[in-house]
Amino acid sequence: MANEDQFKKVISHAKEYGYVFQSSEIYDGLSAVYDYAQNGAELKKNIRDYWWKAMVQMNENIVGIDTAIFMHPTTWKASGHVDAFSDPLIDNKDSKKRYRADVLVEDYCAKIENKIEKEVKKATKRFGDAFNKEEFLSTNGRVVGYQEKINTILKRLGQSLEKEDLADVKALIEELEIADPLTGSRNWTDVKQFNLMFGTKLGASAESAMDLYLRPETAQGIFVNFLNVQKTGRMKIPFGIAQTGKAFRNEIVARQFIFRMREFEQMEMQFFIKPGTQKEWFEHWKATRMKWHLSLGMENDNYRFHDHEKLAHYADAATDIEFKFPFGFKELEGIHSRTDFDLKQHEEFSGKKLQYFDHEDNASYTPYVLETSIGLDRMFLAVFSNALKDETLEDGSVRTVLKLPAVLAPTKAAVLPLVKKDGLPEIARQIIGDLKWDFNVIYDEKDAVGRRYRRQDAAGTPFCITVDHKTLEDNTVTIRHRDTMEQQRVKIEDLKDIIKKEVDVKHWLQKME
Ligand code: GAP
Repeated sequence: MANEDQFKKVISHAKEYGYVFQSSEIYDGLSAVYDYAQNGAELKKNIRDYWWKAMVQMNENIVGIDTAIFMHPTTWKASGHVDAFSDPLIDNKDSKKRYRADVLVEDYCAKIENKIEKEVKKATKRFGDAFNKEEFLSTNGRVVGYQEKINTILKRLGQSLEKEDLADVKALIEELEIADPLTGSRNWTDVKQFNLMFGTKLGASAESAMDLYLRPETAQGIFVNFLNVQKTGRMKIPFGIAQTGKAFRNEIVARQFIFRMREFEQMEMQFFIKPGTQKEWFEHWKATRMKWHLSLGMENDNYRFHDHEKLAHYADAATDIEFKFPFGFKELEGIHSRTDFDLKQHEEFSGKKLQYFDHEDNASYTPYVLETSIGLDRMFLAVFSNALKDETLEDGSVRTVLKLPAVLAPTKAAVLPLVKKDGLPEIARQIIGDLKWDFNVIYDEKDAVGRRYRRQDAAGTPFCITVDHKTLEDNTVTIRHRDTMEQQRVKIEDLKDIIKKEVDVKHWLQKME
């Protein structure tokens, strides 16, 4: 299936199966704002829990907090967001559409990357088992040429942005003959910077109201509480503070569904360390976060690191974990070595000391910070789009199945009485009454059992439990596994253990060790 078709399918499946709705749909929606539906809210909660358990519960030296969305406005002056949190935008004079100039260039490079992938696919077919991808990528003339072109373009883009040379960004767009993706027009305006923060007001009367911003990242809530947490938690460096929560950015977006939203959720962790140790911790968190992703079993080939050419105003090293979304490899998580920039800035703007007294060294210092920052909605899209498959079965029919990692699936099991009579629904209800203390389970009696299986496959439910007439005789049921479609006859009393084994967080997170 072409990537664009696959992406469209992901969006419509998310709506049809109660995962994601457009916000205020009855009023024709609001651009780049989405609502999570009954299944989506569960999947999102499960991803958030999976992250929280890995970061907070599994690490003695990391604690979690939950800070307010509103913060004192000086926070954003200190953090640099008032002056430097902007995107380079460009307008097309004919279509009147606005784009991020850097994204236009990156999308151009993504197209070249698709060509590389096509070459790899062709070569895989040609050489079969003897194919060595690494060697092919580094020796095939055409592929090497494509890669060099990408590197040259991205390097120039990074350098121009770094130097704030927006005229050169425009020149690059013109040299590459990049056209408006909607109309094909190449009639561009100059590139301008545009601040992404949403402003609002606090206070009852216009005269006394105070100008505020909706937070564009959750990290600053952690920095301003650094000393409160360190002292009340008696935390010793190195230690981390984690939080999840909403963030807001006035993004210029081009139909990217929940990939780039104006209201979204972040899962961030600031790890406070001794100055000079940031290189080691950077490598540590790069490896640890990648292990977290891989623990979900979503194939290694879907991930890659992308080290930053252009560093944010606060960083001395940064990398992205990129994921292969239906529209190509894109940033899923950022890992940033933020130096002591934020704490020093908050010290300066607040006039309060934000230092750590190290008893071993008998000295005070401003800690350095290693940050891991992942978008919950983006992780949702990664998990959901990777899980959605059309499988051709032995009889030639096609089943649509949402192979969500069982630990994240919104509903763990559906209980299905074979028929709506003979006491089978009552037994199904009893099974639900017992399992619901441990798992989200649902009851489904409508339609033939085969159709019900397909419905649960498409909704992502890992298990279907069928109660039939044999159940009346021997208290056994069939349990069907979503991914293999295998069915087993098991005792009702064993159901809980069978399901637990596959959905338990421990079973999944242990893979990180
Ligand atoms: N505190 C650092 C920070 O906010 P970032 O790279 O701007 O860094 C971190 O954002 C992560 O937040 C990104 O990797 C992405 O997953 C997510 N994110 C950022 N902007 C987003 C948006 N508009 N919609 C959805 N997720 C977004």
